[in-house]
Amino acid sequence: MFREIDIRDIKKSPVEMISDEWALLSAGTPDSFNTMTVSWGALGELWGRDCAFAFVRPQRYTYEFMEKNEYYTLSFFDGAYKKEMGFCGSHSGRDCDKMKETGLQPVRAGESVSFSQAKTVLVCRKIAIQDIDPKGFLDESIHSEYPSDDYHRVYIGEIVKVLKAD
Ligand SMILES: Cc1cc2nc3c(=O)[nH]c(=O)nc-3n(C[C@H](O)[C@H](O)[C@H](O)COP(=O)(O)O)c2cc1C
Repeated sequence: MFREIDIRDIKKSPVEMISDEWALLSAGTPDSFNTMTVSWGALGELWGRDCAFAFVRPQRYTYEFMEKNEYYTLSFFDGAYKKEMGFCGSHSGRDCDKMKETGLQPVRAGESVSFSQAKTVLVCRKIAIQDIDPKGFLDESIHSEYPSDDYHRVYIGEIVKVLKAD
């Protein structure tokens, strides 16, 4: 169902992919995983590798899976499934079964998990983490994003596989 492609064959802007169309960030395996919607993040190069950058607040259930697992995925749906992504971005896997509620179907993607409905999947290997330090905020207005001091953990993932739905 998925075939491997070269990341350079993705012609869409990462801003459009992540900020506008959103992604599902998933960690674990089809048997045990959690997923949540993300629209903050980036794709690019670091340390000579193709990398994905995801920002996860510590209270997310997905955070626990990001901590436990070496691999995770970013799944893109080409602007479709916004309703389902809205659900995954407003409910916690601690309180409900997101798959049952959305009809998304978990499938194996490399060493991790994605969904049969995804159009593009980035399989990432966690290579570094870094917690946002508010001392680094040069623009004071950024503080208002963190009324509860729940600073994101940045996950830097080497993109080890890119999958495209046929
Ligand atoms: C469009 C959208 C984008 C989001 N982006 C992020 C993000 O980048 N980082 C984050 O920590 N939470 C983000 N969230 C919030 C989580 O997706 C949300 O809290 C989710 O319910 C967490 O689920 P979980 O507890 O099962 O992990 C976003 C929510 C939406 C709707």
